[in-house]
Amino acid sequence: MKVAIPKEIVANERRVALVPQAVGRLIAAGAEVLVEAGAGASAHFSDAQYEEAGARVVAGPAELFGSADVVVKVQGPVMNEALGKHEVDLLSPGTTLISFLYALNNPELVKRLVEAKVTSFSMDAMPRIARAQSMDALSSQATISGYKAVLIAASALGKMMPMMITAAGTLAPSRGFVLGAGVAGLQAIGTARRLGAVMEAFDVRPAVKEQVESLGAKFVELELETEEVEDTGGYAKELSEETHRREQELLADRVSVADFVITTAAVPGRPAPVLITEDMVKQMRGGSVIVDLAAEMGGNCGLTKAGEEVVIHDVTIHGPVNLPSSMPVHASEMYSRNIATLLNHLTKEGQLQLDFEDSITGGCCITHEGSILHEATQAAVG
Ligand code: NAI
Repeated sequence: MKVAIPKEIVANERRVALVPQAVGRLIAAGAEVLVEAGAGASAHFSDAQYEEAGARVVAGPAELFGSADVVVKVQGPVMNEALGKHEVDLLSPGTTLISFLYALNNPELVKRLVEAKVTSFSMDAMPRIARAQSMDALSSQATISGYKAVLIAASALGKMMPMMITAAGTLAPSRGFVLGAGVAGLQAIGTARRLGAVMEAFDVRPAVKEQVESLGAKFVELELETEEVEDTGGYAKELSEETHRREQELLADRVSVADFVITTAAVPGRPAPVLITEDMVKQMRGGSVIVDLAAEMGGNCGLTKAGEEVVIHDVTIHGPVNLPSSMPVHASEMYSRNIATLLNHLTKEGQLQLDFEDSITGGCCITHEGSILHEATQAAVG
């Protein structure tokens, strides 16, 4: 089985799908690995390190994509402007592609994959089950986003995070509020606590209360029925108008006393809910900071601009995009572990053996032999 690692060509993407250490393990398991020259450079993994691990370095994408059995990427395939060809069209029929695809939001890409008869697996479609945890790239990358969001808040604040007792006076600790205590939110709480901030958090799923408290933060409670807020997969649902109004009242109160707010609230397949309105921003103290991790899905704050930092009513609002790429070493190492574990799951004795009855293989396979296998994608593409 030939596994190929192309260089990512999406702007500002610094991650690489497999790091040299994982390549070594794949080769030991019988795979042949090809890597495009410079594929790991922005994550500080050199071609020489890949060669030492046993990979063959290939000069350009054309040879790499065309000769592989499996192509592993971070970003879904895009147009390669230098070659004047879409990356999908560089793949031979029957090739397996593993990357983030966000198939529900990318029907055109899915159609291309179908036409090209590519077998595609999407890392963002990995089922959220215990057995799939080590392949869960949404979680591994959200860990980085949650951590980095706190660093952004810390450097934008005109205050320090911990309480300080000094000869020049006692400084009160900064107060942080996390909205949406999923993987990124919990990591943000942990990171901010390590820096000494006093933390509060809110999530519509009451099940996270215990996790929030175990990290030393206070859980802000809104009495909600579980069926009203959570689907059977454990994800948040879109709230009714009345519940949304009650949530906003509660949030206005907590946001007004926070020095920094980190928002991560997402509902799969839907735009991010707007939880922080301009009125709420007006009530915040001057110099406060909002880091909106939902910026790419529209933002949890009505004033967020994706990819920008804006100052409105003396509050700095950050809408960072692709934060995992800003920490490419650890992001690539974790993603690489997710990919390598999935590859191991899909192979037997060094060869691909796809069992679509298996909930992991069947759950994250989007296209195969010219058809869409993934039910939700079928419905979205029509
Ligand atoms: P996410 O990125 O989809 O959303 C972030 C958080 O925002 C969630 O906790 C969600 O409840 C919250 N949220 C949504 N709407 C909100 C609103 N209106 N107000 C406040 N908060 C709101 O979530 P993530 O981190 O990807 O995880 C979601 C679920 O998946 C959780 O139940 C988590 O435990 C589960 N999970 C399971 C895994 C496994 O078993 N392999 C791995 C990772 C997560």
